[in-house]
Amino acid sequence: MDKLVHTSVVAHHQPAIELAERIAALAPGKLDKIFFANSGAEAVEGAIKLARYVTGKSALIAFQGAFHGRTYGALSLTASKSYYRERYEPFLPGVYHVPYPYAYRNPSGPGDEATLDYVFDFIAQMLDTRVPPKNVAAFIVEPVLGEGGYVVPPAAFMPRLRELCDEHGILLIADEVQSGYGRTGKMFACEHTGVVPDIMTLAKSIASGLPLSAVVASSKLMDRWEPAAHGSTFGGNPVSCAAGIATLDVFEREGILENAREKGEQLLGRLRELQTRVGAIGDVRGLGLMIGVELVEKNGKPDKHLQKHIRQICLDSGLVILSCGTEDNVLRLVPPLNISESELNEGWEILSAAFHEAAA
Ligand SMILES: Cc1ncc(COP(=O)(O)O)c(C=O)c1O
Repeated sequence: MDKLVHTSVVAHHQPAIELAERIAALAPGKLDKIFFANSGAEAVEGAIKLARYVTGKSALIAFQGAFHGRTYGALSLTASKSYYRERYEPFLPGVYHVPYPYAYRNPSGPGDEATLDYVFDFIAQMLDTRVPPKNVAAFIVEPVLGEGGYVVPPAAFMPRLRELCDEHGILLIADEVQSGYGRTGKMFACEHTGVVPDIMTLAKSIASGLPLSAVVASSKLMDRWEPAAHGSTFGGNPVSCAAGIATLDVFEREGILENAREKGEQLLGRLRELQTRVGAIGDVRGLGLMIGVELVEKNGKPDKHLQKHIRQICLDSGLVILSCGTEDNVLRLVPPLNISESELNEGWEILSAAFHEAAA
């Protein structure tokens, strides 16, 4: 703050260069060039523009249940709840949606294989009948579905999607705004799958609360994005970038990834044990500290009412829990990545008591 608050686009500064180098060193594959912006939605806009610019193609394929932000391009890709789109038509043309692999509610039956067959058959049919692959600039995907229900896709999903993209010369954008930066116990959720996307978007926690986001891609791709083809007055400002560097220092110093993995496993284990005793818990899923608890009625239908009831009981006892899911019936557990053992226990006492009161 004392040295430099703002330079706009007239000068590069050390914090942005250092942070870009550190993110590039952590990013999978050769994703070594960064464009900084201010918010998740802006990073998604940047990713869409980059994909269209370098491919010269315009169609974009996103997933049902996806949340990519509220600006027009990002909102055109968003399909988690229709009220985000109310009164905002028309959207960006050339956007198509396909089902996300959601094994718990897969229409063609349970199991990872049936789920993936359903999704990839749908995509194949769409590429055959509605949008030729030659028109498609990119698929955009959340490696773990966030707002749409904290859905962890089957392990083979990302590799198969990568293969499909390579076969047709389509770019793969991983929106890691929610799943990235340690949330799933690895720096980026796509690392669980071994898949390297062409473009990655980052935001939320990357500057621990200061406005900062990033579009990450290889130099090979980024160097084809001509100077001034995209830009931002405030994006990557020195103070946010300094906070971004400090954030990565904390990751190293405090063993944040290990903590997310360890506490995530504990919490998942406890929830799965609770599930054996509570019929209203239909599904428990998650990676690291990105955990969803899907609540259902006796007939298996989504139970939004119970979601609200449990959250209210928790809130009254001082525990904040969010919800998610297209039917808003999923408890979204996103504890701080540095949560301590005693804090986890304290939160668990409140949550398990809430289940005892509302759903025993
Ligand atoms: C996956 C994903 N992408 C994009 C966004 C948009 O981020 P922002 O609210 O910073 O614009 C969000 C926000 O929740 C998100 O979860």
